[in-house]
Amino acid sequence: MRNEVTIFCPATVSNVGPGFDLLGFALETPGDELVVKRNDLGKLQLIDQSGTGLPLDPHTNVAAIAASALLDELKIADGFDLIFTKKINPGSGLGSSAASCVAAVMGINELLGAPLSAPELLPYAMEGEQAASGSYHADNIAPALLGGFTLIRGYDPLDIKHIPYPDDLHCAVVHPDLQFKTSEGRKVIPKTFPIATAIAQAGNLAGLIAGLTTSDHGLIGRSIVDHFAEPYRTGKLPEFEALRKKTTDAGALGSGLSGSGPSIFALCRSREIAESVAAVMQAHFSEHDITSNTYVSKVSEAGCRITG
Ligand code: HSE
Repeated sequence: MRNEVTIFCPATVSNVGPGFDLLGFALETPGDELVVKRNDLGKLQLIDQSGTGLPLDPHTNVAAIAASALLDELKIADGFDLIFTKKINPGSGLGSSAASCVAAVMGINELLGAPLSAPELLPYAMEGEQAASGSYHADNIAPALLGGFTLIRGYDPLDIKHIPYPDDLHCAVVHPDLQFKTSEGRKVIPKTFPIATAIAQAGNLAGLIAGLTTSDHGLIGRSIVDHFAEPYRTGKLPEFEALRKKTTDAGALGSGLSGSGPSIFALCRSREIAESVAAVMQAHFSEHDITSNTYVSKVSEAGCRITG
């Protein structure tokens, strides 16, 4: 039996405009590494090699909460070390907590001889995400675990579909040096919307799915509009609408807040365009004296995986 496994889990972009809590996709980069090792302590022990200030108490660490949910379900009392090398910054809007949760359940499952399939791990990873954000949503967890573009058609029961997308789809991401907490970002969203707003949102979500599946790049671009969450979350980002216009002027199909932010994603038809768009987004934040990191990646079919 193996005693140690190394897992890579990618960052993810969730919501993707009109798909609040429903849509997400995996990036090639950045991603977290997690080493999971058996220990003799009969409990989880957390070690942070990246200095990101992760909570190391198993009762508050989201990956440990996910891991415990899995171990409790399988009635396993063994101990494991979870050794984190995080490259996805917490509070970035790039699925940092989801990556930790998914990597932890995949690593432990592997050391137990893989009793569960990847899709079966999803509810346990979601327990950790729930602890992180105060809400039971899977739009980062599903693409982090399964890769690709995923739609959560429904939550009760969970009904998750892989959505085909054009081969040339690339993503530019800018992560301004700010931290937004998802739990706070969920409190600002209205509880109800007028029917006209719901219709506009449904039209965009349907349009985005249709555009992805038929490789209609124009339709993808004009469907990346969110009426539910983004308008209430971008107040701390300088000239957000001007930035969105700059991205389309630079060739992006469309852009929006990644998850609950502060990162912003832009979908593009090629790596070259995505690189130009990333530079434009970074320049925008520099003009406002905010440092940022950028990432350029294909929309990635590869989700969380065992690397060693
Ligand atoms: N759908 C979630 C939200 C993603 O927007 O709150 C962030 O975890």
